[in-house]
Amino acid sequence: MSESRLIDTAAAREILRANDRDGHTVPTDGLYPFQWSWDSAITALGWQTFDEDRAWREAEVMFDGQWGNGMLPHILFHGGNADSYFPGPSVWGSRTRIPSSAISQPAIWATTLGMMLERAADRKLAETRLAPLVPKLVDYHRWWYRERDPDGTGLIVSYHPWESGMDNSPAWDKPLARVPEVEWTYERRDLGHVDSDQRPHKPEYDRYLYLVDFYKRHDFNSRVIYEECPYRVIDVALVALLHRASIDLLPLCAHFGITEGVEEVEAGISRTQAAIDRLWNDERRCFLSFDTRADEPLDVITTGTVLPLFAGLASDAQASAMLELIEEWLDASTVGLASTHPASPLYEPKRYWRGPIWSHINWMIALSAEAAGRPDIAERLQSDTRRLINEAGFWEYFDPDAVAGCGGDRFSWTAAVALYWLA
Ligand code: GLC
Repeated sequence: MSESRLIDTAAAREILRANDRDGHTVPTDGLYPFQWSWDSAITALGWQTFDEDRAWREAEVMFDGQWGNGMLPHILFHGGNADSYFPGPSVWGSRTRIPSSAISQPAIWATTLGMMLERAADRKLAETRLAPLVPKLVDYHRWWYRERDPDGTGLIVSYHPWESGMDNSPAWDKPLARVPEVEWTYERRDLGHVDSDQRPHKPEYDRYLYLVDFYKRHDFNSRVIYEECPYRVIDVALVALLHRASIDLLPLCAHFGITEGVEEVEAGISRTQAAIDRLWNDERRCFLSFDTRADEPLDVITTGTVLPLFAGLASDAQASAMLELIEEWLDASTVGLASTHPASPLYEPKRYWRGPIWSHINWMIALSAEAAGRPDIAERLQSDTRRLINEAGFWEYFDPDAVAGCGGDRFSWTAAVALYWLA
């Protein structure tokens, strides 16, 4: 059966090599020609299976673009050809040494680097390369807690759907609809690479760009942005992934004797633990993101809404409710796990984060299910992901009903997940 067929590791390695740009890996050639933060974290785990030196380099190059205030940008525009991507550095307007965007992405680096230390065949190399990165991780986590939760609520906020990494998730429809549209005209580059029915619509794009302009207009001033940004959302996945990463960061700090800033990380962890229940929804059987501008929960079940499982933030009762939900959700499409629950009227199986399956999310949910005592769900997610890659190829994301690849082909994180999880 195709599910049990072995992953073509030679092909997966070849994709990473082909997407290597002198120390950073582009997500895919053409559509995403620079370094994206959470792609890079996942991709490093893939590199580690056959080139440990190159895996550590991926992280070093990323943290080289860290801002002075600790922020790790979601895109680093390395090299000269910035116009090949839209919106490029001139639209973002940040004046950093390595041109970059002005928002971050899910903070999974401490988690993945911790895993890399554990898995390292060359332990000495791992220790040497990771040591200088740990204080940078601490700075990054402090930035999240300080700048994105200035009132100490325990729940960090996000200022852009792109920051979630789940760009056009239907969870963001309502808060995004209240953002004005930009008035200038522009040419999208993504539509030159991928069919428009697999990408976000123009009105969404106009609002994405309004926000990019907004940060620049306010000179990236954190306090002003916190107070005035028209989009300010508690993204439960962003909260959960930061929380898990903070927990994973503490043993790294202890191991490398780093003490500065650790108390702030510990305080952030405690505050989130105390606050997370505010996002729980009994009827939906999961946590929901929250729009702090409209003061209302964002009532859409997405793969993001079960990620508190990955962070150990759910009580036993909440965990079993979510696992039950996930099981039904897996049954609702040919393969899983669809990024939006197929029963939702907003489900679109081909459109990016509105339905398609993403391999790295399946991996995180599988780890969560396993940790929660449901290895059967973990195995199901694993065999579905293997089937998709074997039948369709190393695509950016997959149609859960048609069992077909969508978006960009020869995609780095899909190849990486195949190498470290499926092979
Ligand atoms: C899209 C995805 C985001 C990813 C980026 C590069 O913006 O939504 O999660 O990081 O592409 O692959």
